[in-house]
Amino acid sequence: MGDTQNFKEIAAAAAVGMVRSGMAVGLGTGSTAACVVRRLAESLRAGELTGVTTLATSRAVRDEAARIGLPLLDDALPRDLDLTIDGADEVDPRLDLIKGAGGALLREKIVAQASRREVIVVDESKLSPRLGARRPLPVEVLPFAWRSQARFLEQLGAEVVVRRLADGTEYRTDQGDLILDCSFGPIDDPRALARELEERAGIVEHGLFLGLATVVVVGGPGGVRILDGRAGPAV
Ligand code: A5P
Repeated sequence: MGDTQNFKEIAAAAAVGMVRSGMAVGLGTGSTAACVVRRLAESLRAGELTGVTTLATSRAVRDEAARIGLPLLDDALPRDLDLTIDGADEVDPRLDLIKGAGGALLREKIVAQASRREVIVVDESKLSPRLGARRPLPVEVLPFAWRSQARFLEQLGAEVVVRRLADGTEYRTDQGDLILDCSFGPIDDPRALARELEERAGIVEHGLFLGLATVVVVGGPGGVRILDGRAGPAV
């Protein structure tokens, strides 16, 4: 196993250690969250946890969870979630995040907002001094008149690329929307940018997850570190 995969695995194991029997748990999307799904299934099979139910943040994760036998809640979400464990693309010192490289940002944000605790699992390469410094910001847009949204985002200072699959066709989200990957460079004021994006019709969701992470579990060469959002800037 390579170093990065090992860092993801140890972060995932630590996060699954926060799950208690009987909890309703949100399942994130991405390679680190996939380690969580596997670990959780193992813990249930081993009888270390019982009565756990889950809600997936994407169709792919829902299919995988069903395949390995994780109990799934109805998509309508009959109750709030106790805990969600999800990955991230970039984490800043305030524990604000960029998410959406896996294309599941809308469902991930819905699930995060429906959770009492949002636990983020990352390897240490995701830590960043400022959001946007390392990764583009994914913005999900309605296909209708989407070029207007691309121009709007360019006016805000982004270099905009329409996300495509390997065969060149446009990537579609689980809702059938497009993703515009927006390179802003380091973002001075993520809250101001989030407000501007949220005011624009046709923008379905953006990948700025601000004030949503309860803790960030970081796997690295020294083991696992837990960054607590309530403790103030930690990196
Ligand atoms: C999915 O849409 C994203 O928000 C993921 O949580 C993010 O891309 C992390 O994925 P990795 O763990 O594969 O880096």
